[in-house]
Amino acid sequence: MSRFPLAQRGIFVNAPPSQRPVVLVTGASAGIGAATARRFAAGGFRIVALARHRDRLDELAQELSPLTDVQVVVADVTERDAARRATDAAIGAFGSLHCLVNNAGAGRWGRVGDTDDETLDHVIETSLKAPVRFARAALAVMRPGSSIINVGSTFGIVGGLGGGVYCAAKAGLGGLTQAIAADYGARGIRANLVAPGVIRTDMTEASWNAEWFRRTNDEMTPMNRQGKVEDVANTIFFLASDEGSYIQGQTIALDGGWSTTKYLSRHALTCERVQSATTKARRGDEA
Ligand SMILES: NC(=O)c1ccc[n+]([C@@H]2O[C@H](COP(=O)([O-])OP(=O)(O)OC[C@H]3O[C@@H](n4cnc5c(N)ncnc54)[C@H](OP(=O)(O)O)[C@@H]3O)[C@@H](O)[C@H]2O)c1
Repeated sequence: MSRFPLAQRGIFVNAPPSQRPVVLVTGASAGIGAATARRFAAGGFRIVALARHRDRLDELAQELSPLTDVQVVVADVTERDAARRATDAAIGAFGSLHCLVNNAGAGRWGRVGDTDDETLDHVIETSLKAPVRFARAALAVMRPGSSIINVGSTFGIVGGLGGGVYCAAKAGLGGLTQAIAADYGARGIRANLVAPGVIRTDMTEASWNAEWFRRTNDEMTPMNRQGKVEDVANTIFFLASDEGSYIQGQTIALDGGWSTTKYLSRHALTCERVQSATTKARRGDEA
């Protein structure tokens, strides 16, 4: 039986603060991480919010203060002791840790052949080694009913142009998720992975002006809208909740169907590349 049945139904907001569950969110100062912290706060969790910029974390803590307690941890996830400092902060401030959201990640793009060692190290350190260290530190203090949610990417499921080492790191998170599920499931600890498609955040903002970027996403997404940070945050919260208590070792893509369909809008069907390839094929030329 879950240790937090009330919290998962949102009833925990009425519980005394000392009995509320605790979530640690990495990369909580912006984008998906900040939305996740907001969702867990609304669901009655106490929050450990970690990122590099104190000012943005303090702003978030201030915003959430009417709802819950927030412990701010200023750290770079690539620092060797960041994970231990974060779990120490959770135990020190709240006495427990029930959920880890491994959200901080590095989006550096480029083909594998163009990837220098500095980029390779940076992406693997941030998006794969750090989540392993945070999971290791969390597992040392978690009790039955706890869970870990890793934030991967559709690029870790199906690859993607220019994804390079980011694809490799995010795919690695799938293995990490399954390994934790296998080894810790019997102890009542779950691990799952969410894989967002393109979600409008600081990470992707600069790309939206490029036509190819909009087309790659909009024209190939069956759902007729863009993904929002709340789409990801709500799913993370559900996975951590009692309603998700038999979901173990899974990957859930949050991409409006982008990665699991061969959807092409009418506009995409008549775009230049498809048209020229089709024309060449009709002529019997090499496509
Ligand atoms: N947005 C998308 O379309 C998309 C798609 C697929 C997957 N994802 C994944 O979703 C996660 C969140 O992305 P996002 O779009 O929300 O990005 P974002 O808006 O750029 O936010 C990134 C967050 O992570 C923190 N962060 C970055 N590097 C860090 C580090 N080394 N140590 C500690 N904190 C760090 C940032 O805060 P500070 O700068 O204060 O440290 C910020 O709070 C990432 O893992 C990303 O790969 C995003």
